[in-house]
Amino acid sequence: MSNNIEDSVKNYYGKVLKTNRDLKTSACSIDLTTSKKIKSLINSIHPEVNEKFYGCGLIIPEAIEGSHILDLGSGSGRDSFILASLAGKKGRVVGIDMTKEQIEVAQKHKKYHEELFGLEDKNLKFVHGKIENILDASLQLNSFDLIVSNCVINLVPNKEKVLQDAFKLLKVGGEFYFSDIYSDRRVPEHLINNELLYGECLSGALYWNDFSNLAKSSGFKDPRIVSVKPITISNKEVKKLIDPIKFYSITYRLFKIQDLEADCEDYGQAVCYKGNLEESPHSIDLDQGHTFPKGKFKEVCGNTYLMLNQSRMRKYFEFAGSWDTHHGTFPNCNPKPIINKLFTDNDSQGNGLEESESSIPCC
Ligand SMILES: C[S@@+](CC[C@H](N)C(=O)[O-])C[C@H]1O[C@@H](n2cnc3c(N)ncnc32)[C@H](O)[C@@H]1O
Repeated sequence: MSNNIEDSVKNYYGKVLKTNRDLKTSACSIDLTTSKKIKSLINSIHPEVNEKFYGCGLIIPEAIEGSHILDLGSGSGRDSFILASLAGKKGRVVGIDMTKEQIEVAQKHKKYHEELFGLEDKNLKFVHGKIENILDASLQLNSFDLIVSNCVINLVPNKEKVLQDAFKLLKVGGEFYFSDIYSDRRVPEHLINNELLYGECLSGALYWNDFSNLAKSSGFKDPRIVSVKPITISNKEVKKLIDPIKFYSITYRLFKIQDLEADCEDYGQAVCYKGNLEESPHSIDLDQGHTFPKGKFKEVCGNTYLMLNQSRMRKYFEFAGSWDTHHGTFPNCNPKPIINKLFTDNDSQGNGLEESESSIPCC
């Protein structure tokens, strides 16, 4: 790269891109199906903020009223505003971004969204800075219920530091819920040095297996996949450059829970969704492999049990079973085979899966 990575990314998001219509690929502008409520919230966001949205997924988990939330690489603020409205008056959202032009758009429309959602100044804050230096931003360790990020980590050279610091900032039982771009193999150096590919969130992407190992070594022992979507590359020049690498937008949720194990173990436990979450009266999803219907006990591994029992989800479930007897490995609960299947099922870029979110059942 002619400049260093940081200058190049700031230039791309501050000067080159005026709106998301200027993007060359779908990597930073994925449209995911969502509920009516979230759609109407998105539509209520100020148009200047919406047209500078460069996210690659939906980072709005359930049950976040009153939550303390940190948005890493918040850009023009779309997700921060939506999350603040859902977190409400007892919640707090801090967005951080290193590109001056992006954070200025968020600041400019802060008051507008506070008035729109009945919030106060203290509910929403934007900080100009690098997410690698997040621990210098006077934020309390172990204080966040939720950390989110939308299409940002791929742009950061020191991804390990971001994951480690996110772990430190989360409360026990909190989670890092974020969307980003991943590749099906390691991206070669000459592509990483291509400013357009890097800026478009492609060549800085981690090979998904490397990400999974990095997350685990940073303390997030059992990364869970919420959604996977192939990236469509219609620009011929870009397509030629990256071939045969395939890229996917993946939303992960990483819980900070001390007792999670490296593998899914079977202790004979089961959980039942009570149906008491207003936005999900019939069923609730934990991840791509776990949907819990209202009023029906489902067998779960020890890790899934802990994710529901030790997090803000606890009050929505009934729990059965103890840790007394180990029955061996819980079958097919790890996301790894899900991704492998997806990658091996698709042998060309943009092969028909791009229209809808893929969902391959696990446990
Ligand atoms: C693809 S855009 C996504 C922005 C926002 N999350 C959204 O969904 O619209 C990437 C953003 O990450 C920011 N960014 C990239 N690297 C960063 C870093 N190291 N620290 C802080 N912000 C960073 C850029 O400034 C840009 O606003």
